[in-house]
This record gives sequence, structure tokens and C-alpha cells, in this order.
Amino acid sequence: MSTENGVAPVAQNDHTAKEIAALAEKYRKSEELADLVQLRDLRLQGGKKITQQTDSAWRRETETETPPNLFAPGSGELPEVDYRDLSAEAVQSAMYHHGALIVRNLFSSLQTQEFCKDIDTVMDAGQEYFVATKKDENVERSADSRSAFTPAPLNVDLNAAAFMGNCGAVATFLSPKVSHRLFERFDELGLRELLQAYFQDESCVSYYKSVLRRVEPLPNPADWHQDGAFMGKGIDSLNLWVALTDCGAGTNSPGMDLVPQRLNGIVPPGGNGAAFDWSVSAKTVSENFADVKIAQPHFGAGDAVFFDHFNLHVTSSSPKFTKPRYAIETWFFSKSRCALNQIPAYW
Ligand SMILES: [Fe+2]
Repeated sequence: MSTENGVAPVAQNDHTAKEIAALAEKYRKSEELADLVQLRDLRLQGGKKITQQTDSAWRRETETETPPNLFAPGSGELPEVDYRDLSAEAVQSAMYHHGALIVRNLFSSLQTQEFCKDIDTVMDAGQEYFVATKKDENVERSADSRSAFTPAPLNVDLNAAAFMGNCGAVATFLSPKVSHRLFERFDELGLRELLQAYFQDESCVSYYKSVLRRVEPLPNPADWHQDGAFMGKGIDSLNLWVALTDCGAGTNSPGMDLVPQRLNGIVPPGGNGAAFDWSVSAKTVSENFADVKIAQPHFGAGDAVFFDHFNLHVTSSSPKFTKPRYAIETWFFSKSRCALNQIPAYW
């Protein structure tokens, strides 16, 4: 992966980043659950020190140069690269001109299988924890169960809200083991440097928006949305959504439908039969993008897509989709242009 774009990556060298690196090294040697949990907690506690420092509407507005358009996707398609060709320039170009970038083969088949197994374990361990908590039982949990799921050092409501077992989602940070393995994988891929070059700033990650997913096919079509509709202004984000099982076009698991266009603002949500005041109805999408063929990509297990808070998308829906879909979604922000209401954390 290349990160050359004329800007030297900024090293993460503040005190918290150094502490995290030291603790990660300690855990690598000890493999002790206590070190793993402390590492996860430090990432979250460090995030409390991150404060948004700008109220500019969007950083691209201050850019003087338009990035070259490196892609020419067909109608209803998004730009794509193999993970070996992933670079900050590719992300910048695709985001600026097309609003998303598909990355093929980001995770190997072995990695996707392991993460799927992990997600099942995390869901079970979370369920066990919350059922016991509701009944006020003091259940003795094994080290495996605690490494799979341990409440975060945030208030209880935030833990419960982040465990959305019924919707097939759980905050990645609630799993000390999976969050650490995921961030290690991202580091191996060179994502830290790529994000620094893209944001021109260090990156942080959202506790709230970063989730492990195991979703059943939708009984009814969902509304569309832009995640920026509930994130506030002055932010710069990049979401990395990785499919862990084959999904989307040509498969029997729901993928994602996306408007294959760069959007620079929020399409007014609500109205036209929208289910929520932050969601956008299919009618509004077809009215606003009458000439645009919606992208309904095929994702193989391990394929991923980058998009940001302005991308308009929806979980795919079709009677053909009969099997659950596993995925990991991770929202990154520029540290100085981060959505504070999404609870920033170190990674
Ligand atoms: Fe979304």
C-alpha cells in the first residue's frame, strides 16, 4: 500500500499514543486478559481528550487543488482497487469524484472466517452478560467470555446502547479481543499512515459508530441515510465497511446500495414517507437522483468499501436475500475534525 501524496505522515507521538503502543507490546508478550482490557480502556479514555478544533464545513472547501480523477466507473458502479493498490491518492480521488471506493480482498479468507467466528462469540458473550445483569445475577464469566465481551469504562447506558444484539450489531470496543485484533490488522495494512495522509491529521475512531455486524435479511426495505445527518458540522470522516461474508449482487445475503456520487451536503431527511427524521425515503432518493443508476455492488468476503458521512446508502433488500451477512464497520475521523457526539477513541 502506498501513502505517497507529497505529505509526510504525521507520527502519533502524544503521551496516550505512546502508552497504547507500550501496552500493546506488553500484551503481545503476556497475552494476559488484564493487559488486553487495560489496552481497550486506555484507547477509550484517551479519546476523552480529543476535542474538535475547527468549525469549517468540510475540509475540501479549503483545498486549493482538485485531486486527479483516477477512475472511470460505469453507470451504477463505484471506483474500485485491489488492496495492493490502495493508497491515500486513490481514496482521495475516489471520495472527491465518486463518493466511495471499493477495495477488493482487504481481508484474507482466513481472516474473514476468524472474524465471523469472533462475532458469534462476542454476540453470545454480550447476550449472556446483559441477561445476567438484567436479572441481577452475578454470573462467573470465563476469561474467554470476558476477552470477547467486557463493558467499556463508560456509563452503563452507553454499553447497553452499544450492544444492539437484537439488531445484529455490537460496538467493536465492547470486545477487547476483537477491537485489538482489528486495529492490528488495520496497522498491518498501513491504514494509519493512509488515514494521516488523507486527513492531513492523525486519525481517531468512533466508539459509537464502529460495530461488528451479523444481520439477518430485512423483512421490509429500510430507509436510506447519510451518517452525517446525526454527526454535526465541521467534521471529516472515513468509514471502512468490510464484508466478512459474500453479499450484495449475485449472492443470497444483503449488501449495500449506494448513490454513486460525491455529495457535499445533507439531503433533507424526513418527509416523503421517511420512517425517521434523520432518514431519507426511497421516494426522495428517486426524486433527487432520477438520472443516477444506484450502485448495488457485489462484495466477496474480505472486500471493503470506504465512504464518508455524506454518502447516501441503505442496506440492500430483496426476496433473494435469505442468509445473514457478517461485516465490520469502522468510522474514522480526523482528530481535529471529529464528530464528538460519536465518542472518539484512540486506535
Ligand atoms: Fe450508514
